[in-house]
Amino acid sequence: MAPTLQSGSYILAGLLFILALAGLSKHETSKRGNVLGCVGMAVALIITVLTTLIGYRSGGVILGGLPAWGVAAVLLPMAAGAVIGILRALKVEMTGMPELIALFHSFVGLAAVLVGWVSFMEGGLDKLHAGELFVGVFIGAVTFTGSIIAFMKLSARMKSAPLALPHHNLINLAALVAFVALTVVFVLKHQGAVGWIMLAAVTIIALALGLHLVAAIGGGDMPVVVSMLNSYSGWAAAAAGFTLNNDLLIITGALVGSSGAYLSYIMCKAMNRSFISVIMGGFGSDGAVVGEAKDYGEHREITAPEVAELLKHASSVIITPGYGMAVAQAQTAVAELTTKLHREHGVKVRFGIHPVAGRLPGHMNVLLAEAKVPYDIVLEMDEINDDFSDTDVVLVIGANDTVNPAALDDPHSPIAGMPVLHVWEAGQVIIFKRSMATGYAGVQNPLFFKENSAMLFGDAKQRVEDIIRAL
Ligand code: TAP
Repeated sequence: MAPTLQSGSYILAGLLFILALAGLSKHETSKRGNVLGCVGMAVALIITVLTTLIGYRSGGVILGGLPAWGVAAVLLPMAAGAVIGILRALKVEMTGMPELIALFHSFVGLAAVLVGWVSFMEGGLDKLHAGELFVGVFIGAVTFTGSIIAFMKLSARMKSAPLALPHHNLINLAALVAFVALTVVFVLKHQGAVGWIMLAAVTIIALALGLHLVAAIGGGDMPVVVSMLNSYSGWAAAAAGFTLNNDLLIITGALVGSSGAYLSYIMCKAMNRSFISVIMGGFGSDGAVVGEAKDYGEHREITAPEVAELLKHASSVIITPGYGMAVAQAQTAVAELTTKLHREHGVKVRFGIHPVAGRLPGHMNVLLAEAKVPYDIVLEMDEINDDFSDTDVVLVIGANDTVNPAALDDPHSPIAGMPVLHVWEAGQVIIFKRSMATGYAGVQNPLFFKENSAMLFGDAKQRVEDIIRAL
């Protein structure tokens, strides 16, 4: 295979990955983005495998190429991995997505560690490559164990409460200092026994750091942690790319690393939290922070037939879904209600989506798309926030923190400053939830006690179906 064909294919794959990211940033183009990403990955895999199996033809001489057992050693695990991947992807529920992604990141981390170790065994490293390899092994090992803990917490295989060892920040700092010191020694002297000892030491320290770093964070903050680990896995892949002299791995790793870091930043900004406060633990540490016992007065209850009556006579309705809609799997019923109100009663229905509604970015958009809700009635918070005052009825379906006015009015609230949907400005607000319990941030919501608010208790899916029947 000519090297130019390989470089050309790598550039093509890199471009396809960039187009995939651009496509994924809007729901109208996300399917296309996904397809472009898959094509890019197929090109990258086929070309890499072919160049490894056949070798390069340079000046009439075949360089590289693998013996038959080598070919089998590449193709068999690939086939097994593909089968397992397809089976898992077919089975996974939307709510199980973050944990599956966490598991995938752990593989990237492990791969980076293995690449580093194998390259070290092959020898012949100069100082620059030794440094890259060492950093790659460190990031890879942190990503590996960190992602496994994230997976276990998200899938309830491990308690999601944060592990609070004494001086835990000091422990992390000590691990980082040790890493820097070991890197300097390894770069200067990586031959022979010293190299082996340094590499083993950094691997052990990084594995322990990954475990500790993520174990210390509460289950509620796992979405940000998963996106942070996503970023780490990208940098680990980029480091492996340097070690292997593979340009495409460097490009892909940098894309994943920077987009993961940016996603973590967007999530933190939309929650009005600093990245550091998430990493250090805090609210979201699984109900550790309980809302203050302030008396907001009495709440009012409403029944499904009464809500149906209100909706029939409304001219405009906004639905603001949240995590509870995902828990109840109410999206199909909500889509049916939307169609019914629009077609049979001429009501203008739209959706207002908060950027961190649910538990992962785009959670609500994906559920609504799955239920075939047209994209043009699904609006972002900033697009719809000024329209609540002209709206007759708002249905808050399983959302809590994202519609909490305390974020604006109460400077002492743990969510003070978080941008929220101004649902209370509408004529009537109906809140679907099972109890008066708090949401993710563990704070009470004064919205529930406002004069124009009414609570519709019960499972969101059942209540929406009750309304459809009453209509
Ligand atoms: P939450 O504030 O978590 O509130 C969800 C509400 O749904 C709860 O109050 C719960 O009340 C209700 N609920 C649960 N199951 C239900 C069911 N089967 N039927 C009806 N209601 C049900 O959700 P939100 O408003 O979507 O806010 C998201 C929160 O997650 C924010 O604080 C955000 O910062 C945080 N967060 C989001 C992300 C991303 S990227 N989306 C990442 C990390 C953290 P009951 O128990 O009384 O039913």
